[in-house]
Amino acid sequence: MWMPEITREDMSFIYKSMSEEYKQKLYGRTVLITGFAGSLGYSLLHFFAAHGEQLGVKKVYAIDKLMFGQPNWMKRFIGNPLFDLRTLDVISCDFDFASDADLVFHMASLASPIYYRLHPIETMDADVTGLRRLLDFFKTKHIKGFLFYSSSEIYGDPHSSQIPTPEDYWGNVNSCGPRACYDESKRFGETLCYNFAKQYDMPITVVRPFNNYGPGMRINDQRVVADFAKAVIDNENIVIYSDGKPTRTFDYIPDATVGYIKCALYGKFDVFNIGSDKPEITILQLAELYKKIAHEQFGYNGTIVYEVHSDKDYLTDNPNRRCPDITKARTILEYEPQIHIEEGIKRYLLYLQECDRSEYQW
Ligand SMILES: NC(=O)c1ccc[n+]([C@@H]2O[C@H](COP(=O)([O-])OP(=O)(O)OC[C@H]3O[C@@H](n4cnc5c(N)ncnc54)[C@H](O)[C@@H]3O)[C@@H](O)[C@H]2O)c1
Repeated sequence: MWMPEITREDMSFIYKSMSEEYKQKLYGRTVLITGFAGSLGYSLLHFFAAHGEQLGVKKVYAIDKLMFGQPNWMKRFIGNPLFDLRTLDVISCDFDFASDADLVFHMASLASPIYYRLHPIETMDADVTGLRRLLDFFKTKHIKGFLFYSSSEIYGDPHSSQIPTPEDYWGNVNSCGPRACYDESKRFGETLCYNFAKQYDMPITVVRPFNNYGPGMRINDQRVVADFAKAVIDNENIVIYSDGKPTRTFDYIPDATVGYIKCALYGKFDVFNIGSDKPEITILQLAELYKKIAHEQFGYNGTIVYEVHSDKDYLTDNPNRRCPDITKARTILEYEPQIHIEEGIKRYLLYLQECDRSEYQW
C-alpha cells in the first residue's frame, strides 16, 4: 500500500523497535481499534498496513465517528483485505461485526482541550459509556489484550515534588472545571478497567500518554504542537497563548506507538506512563525549536508572538509542568523513547512538506 515516505520509515522504525517476543505476541491477532481517525490512530493503522501481514495479524477492524470529517488518507485503506474501517459511534454501535477481535485499542475520545471543551458530553460518553460497552461486550470473549488510552491529564496539575510524575501519584484534579470532562472521565475509565479486570479476569492495561505530536495530527487540531506546525507551514508567526512558561515533554507519535503496542500486548492489568521523560521544555522553547528547524528546512522567516486566546478557558486549570517518570515502562516493557524532540519536529515538518494539505487538514 502506498504511504508517504516519512510514514514508511516511521513504520519500519516501530517494527525494528519491537522485540521478537512482542512480534510473536501479535501473531494470529484480530485487532479492534476505536477512534482510528485521530492523531494516534494514523500510526497504528499504518503500522498494521506496513507490517501486519508479515507479523501474521489476521484482521484489523477500526471504527471512528469521524467527528471532524473523513481524513483523505483513509482512502489508502479501501480495498485492503486486512482492514475493515467503519464510520461508527462507540457509544451506540453494535460490536458484533468485530466479535472475533482479541486485541482491542480503545482510543476514541477527544484529546485536544479546545475540542473537548466544545464537546464535553461526547468526550465523557466515549471515555465512560463507550468504554463500558466495550468491556461488557468483550468480558465473555477470550481476548488477549485490551488497551484503554487514559491520559497524563489524570494527574491534573501535579505538585512540584511529583515531577517527574510516577504512576502511583494520585493527582491534583479539579472535578468541576472546564477540563474536568476529560480528566475525570479518564479517571473513571481507569476505575472501570481496574474493576472489570478484577471481576472478569480480563487482560486490560491502562496507558497514560504524555503529549504526543507528529504525522496523523490534524494541523487544525489546536493543540500547541499542531498550532506551531500550521504556523510554519503557512509561513505565519508562531502565536503563544500563555506566558510561554509552562513546561512539557513531547514524544513523537511513532516513538510512543511502540509503547502503546507493548502495553496492549502486556496481557494483564497494570497502568503505564508512556511518553518522553526528557527534555522538559517550556512552550517558548518549543516555539523556538519549530522556528529554528523550519528556518533550516524551508527558509521559514516568521517570528514568535504572544496573544490572548479567544477561548476564555484556554488557560484555566492548565498544568504548569508535565513530565513523566517512565521507570516502570522501561523496566517492565523495555520501552525507551528514541526520537529526540528536534528529530521528531523535523520529521513532522518533512511529512507536512511531502504531503498534500488534504492529508493533514480536514
Ligand atoms: N495525543 C496525545 O498526546 C494524547 C495524550 C493523552 C491521551 N491521549 C488519548 O489517546 C487517545 C487518542 O488520542 P488522539 O490524539 O488520537 O485523539 P484525537 O482527538 O486526535 O482523535 C480522537 C478520535 O476519536 C474519535 N471519536 C471521538 N468520540 C468518538 C466516539 N464516540 N465514537 C467513535 N469515535 C470517536 C474522533 O472522531 C477522533 O477521530 C484518546 O483517548 C486520547 O484521550 C492522547
